[in-house]
Amino acid sequence: MYQYTDEQLESMKKVEASRQERFGKTLARMSAEEKEQVLASFHPDYIDSAYEELKVGPNKGGKVLHELADLLQGRSRVLDMEIDLSNPDYDVDVLVIGGGGAGSSAAIEAHERGANVMIVTKLRLGDANTAMAEGGIQAADKPNDSPAQHYLDAFGGGHFKNKPELLYKLVTKAPEAILWLNKLGVMFDKEEDGTMVTTHGGGTSRKRMHACRDYSGSEIMRTLRDEVFNRKITVVDFTSAIELIKDTEGKAAGAVLMNMETKEILVARAKTVVIATGGAGRLHYQGFPTSNHYGATADGLVLGYRAGAKLLYPETLQYHPTGAAEPTQIYGALVTEKVRSLGAQLVNKDGEAFMNPLETRDVTASSIIRECKERGNGIKTTDGEGVWLDTPLIEMIGGEGTIEKRIPAMLRMFGKYGIDIRKEPILVYPTLHYQNGGLDIASDGMTSVENLYVAGEAVGGIHGTNRLMGNSLLDIIVFGRNAGQSAGEKYKTVEVKELTLSHVQSFQKELEDAGIASNMPSPRLLPDYRRKDN
Ligand code: FUM
Repeated sequence: MYQYTDEQLESMKKVEASRQERFGKTLARMSAEEKEQVLASFHPDYIDSAYEELKVGPNKGGKVLHELADLLQGRSRVLDMEIDLSNPDYDVDVLVIGGGGAGSSAAIEAHERGANVMIVTKLRLGDANTAMAEGGIQAADKPNDSPAQHYLDAFGGGHFKNKPELLYKLVTKAPEAILWLNKLGVMFDKEEDGTMVTTHGGGTSRKRMHACRDYSGSEIMRTLRDEVFNRKITVVDFTSAIELIKDTEGKAAGAVLMNMETKEILVARAKTVVIATGGAGRLHYQGFPTSNHYGATADGLVLGYRAGAKLLYPETLQYHPTGAAEPTQIYGALVTEKVRSLGAQLVNKDGEAFMNPLETRDVTASSIIRECKERGNGIKTTDGEGVWLDTPLIEMIGGEGTIEKRIPAMLRMFGKYGIDIRKEPILVYPTLHYQNGGLDIASDGMTSVENLYVAGEAVGGIHGTNRLMGNSLLDIIVFGRNAGQSAGEKYKTVEVKELTLSHVQSFQKELEDAGIASNMPSPRLLPDYRRKDN
């Protein structure tokens, strides 16, 4: 059971005392100038000292966070191995690296096109960020909405940096993605007449968030996993891709795999390869906690980069405004934005609402950091500080039972520690949630490396430099399917030449010529939480 500190209890009383007065009132949105100002002063993406310039590779001269630079310029795990490429252990049409929502969607679509598909995943199928997504999936499928409106919201939220052709695909394919998932068996929240229930998210001008309570990602992943298994698609689990293989024409042609338990090395030859390795939260950029899955270590960015694929916006990360700040056991865990969509306000130590809770994520996270760091209005927590998210307002607005019905996962997560979010507010602080950037693709999902496709969080450019809530579950479906459809057609024309890892040796030479002699094994594969002080 969590025991509040005296200071926290005193502050909580102020939140309770001001609740009735705040009920039904929402603070105005910030002006564009106010947003720019809070971002520039408080968003972690603007901390120059957290970044360094890349010395080699397709983004040479560009800046990335130190933790990512260490891996992009680290030492390939295959350099010290003798690998026989002439006799592959697997020979497939489409190799999908990653077993989350994007990888599964890609595999399903490629399989639909007759391809011999194999998914390789370092944990188990479905152990991925997809399963941890809570709030929902956007799609403009209501009469008062349109893909054009969706486009404008996401374009503004992304600071107008989204690649137009990718964003166009995202929003125009969104209604079809919902229908596809619905048909596969996803149990979306529906009204009695079968109409989908939809809510707002930060930065949306229409209610277009479709959800499955606050288990949206888990429900979507359950359905996709069933479909992969029903189709009998080969899944090699507990096995990582540690390097991409090319052929002598420089085209992607497979991957070197490593069994995570036995460390056995295996070779997969493929006519096309889809990277769907997800995000990077477990790199804990700038020391932030994360809402991400255990396997989120940017592996796909590293493999793609060494193979010659360019990164787009790798310097922009998403810090979800509301990670759990207390109790310490769930520090950094996701408190879904849906909590704010349903009416919870962000409140400081004196019980004052300090912002509109549905600003875009980067603005909201920065405002919380400002409230704590500059204004001194945060509440001390075990791991740092936080602000209140006043959840009892949800039941005042929606009626008794709303929390149990709409966000049961939140009720349970805090309930385990004796915190009843229907009656008490909760403490939150930004948590590392999403990599806005990733590998640059064309609208068919292919990188600049022929036959190398990317889908899901490993892609950069769809969301510009800040993603809106619910556009990630959407992008894993739209761009997962897209990559699977493209790779599932392309393989029919591919003739793989002799396999080679010469690009890895060339990259290493570039590193050495630049004076970088790192011994850091790359990709990371899993985070290392062992104590460093003994
Ligand atoms: O807040 C959330 O439920 C997260 C959703 C998302 O990242 O899209």
